[in-house]
Amino acid sequence: MASPLQATTAPRKRSKWEDNTPQPPLKRRQIHDDVSPSCNTSSRRPVPSIFAPPRTYHPPLTSSRSVYSYERLNSIEEGSYGVVFRAREKQTGDIVALKKLKLDEEKHGFPITALREINALMSCRHDNVVGIREVVVGETLTQVFIVMDFIEHDLKTLLTLMPSPFLQSEIKTLMLQLLSAISHCHSNWILHRDLKTSNLLMNNRGTIKVADFGLARRYGDPVGVGGMTQLVVTLWYRWVSLVEDSIHVAHHPTKHRAPEILLGAKTYSTAVDMWSVGCIFAELMLKEPLFQAKAEIELLSMIFKLLGSPTNDSWPEYSTLPLAKSITLPSPQPHQFRQKFPFLTIAGIDLLSSLLTYDPERRISADEALQHPYFSETPAPKHPDMFGSFPSAAAGERRRKPFSTPPAPARAVGDKLSMDLE
Ligand SMILES: Nc1ncnc2c1ncn2[C@@H]1O[C@H](COP(=O)(O)OP(=O)(O)O)[C@@H](O)[C@H]1O
Ligand SMILES: [Mg+2]
Repeated sequence: MASPLQATTAPRKRSKWEDNTPQPPLKRRQIHDDVSPSCNTSSRRPVPSIFAPPRTYHPPLTSSRSVYSYERLNSIEEGSYGVVFRAREKQTGDIVALKKLKLDEEKHGFPITALREINALMSCRHDNVVGIREVVVGETLTQVFIVMDFIEHDLKTLLTLMPSPFLQSEIKTLMLQLLSAISHCHSNWILHRDLKTSNLLMNNRGTIKVADFGLARRYGDPVGVGGMTQLVVTLWYRWVSLVEDSIHVAHHPTKHRAPEILLGAKTYSTAVDMWSVGCIFAELMLKEPLFQAKAEIELLSMIFKLLGSPTNDSWPEYSTLPLAKSITLPSPQPHQFRQKFPFLTIAGIDLLSSLLTYDPERRISADEALQHPYFSETPAPKHPDMFGSFPSAAAGERRRKPFSTPPAPARAVGDKLSMDLE
């Protein structure tokens, strides 16, 4: 295994992984001081503590491999926050995705946000969560990459390229996968907080993988509260304080932001993710984002329009929220789900409105949603193997001819038929 130290010996000309901005090479001594306390060559060995468990009890501590174990193929996404590359592992030939962590402006060591992303990915391993393989390092301390399984599509790109929306049977499969991933994250005390279609990857075998845990946050830790029952722990730790977290909240994506956050709630819970799942459910059907707002106030008014204004009944806490007083609510009106989703069954509308529920306490949980009757009524969820495959924009594949799926009108009629037959 290559250590960060070995990485520094790689020849400069092979450095495809570098930033465009030239980095001053690190002095050897600095590397020893900063990243390699284990490189201490002192002959005096520390006396083992009688309190410390034997070394074999520790998780394996090995240094990270070098990014030069991978051959860079193409860049998938170069956003303002980071870069994702497609790459090939040189020994195994495996195709992977490398996400370069944003570390450039760090002055106080390895940033907590990057640790959270790595930690969340590692503690949420699941069939529907993108698999993290390892963390590799480049030549300087600002070059740290998360190595993940490469997944052909993200749902946002796919939705824009598909000629017609997913079928209801396909949406059910995707929603079941998403909900089971979120249920898994929540039961492992992780809030994702940035669920949106560009953070949902999909392979050519009909499986989606939740990705981008860059804003993920541990919301509770049963360790250290010995003596409490699981129930108490759950209640006690359900809420994350927003006060200690203001930087993150400022970056929370606008379109999928839950109304309690928009209205300045000081605490929030797993329910923020469920609101986002509701927005994703709607987007899968509409083939475009549910709320296309540019600013928060515009988003709130779009939410009020679709759901009707919140009332004392539907959201008792509403009036206590910090920003509620500065907002003039439109006159009460019924929700507009039926007009917006004319082909959705009654059960489908019920699931959507249970996800897009004002009161976070009453919003459906991932576990409850998995049991919703929508998933057991016809059409049944499509088996993932039956999904069509699409050219992968991330792998640089071009579409040579239109997708070989049935044309739009036929699909729409098929969908309608299956619903009429219920
Ligand atoms: N494992 C992966 N396989 C394929 N593409 C990926 C993978 N991870 C991310 N991507 C692509 O890169 C984009 C950005 O990655 P993401 O983790 O969401 O980073 P950011 O924090 O910049 O949003 C995704 O929207 C997706 O298109
Ligand atoms: Mg993202």
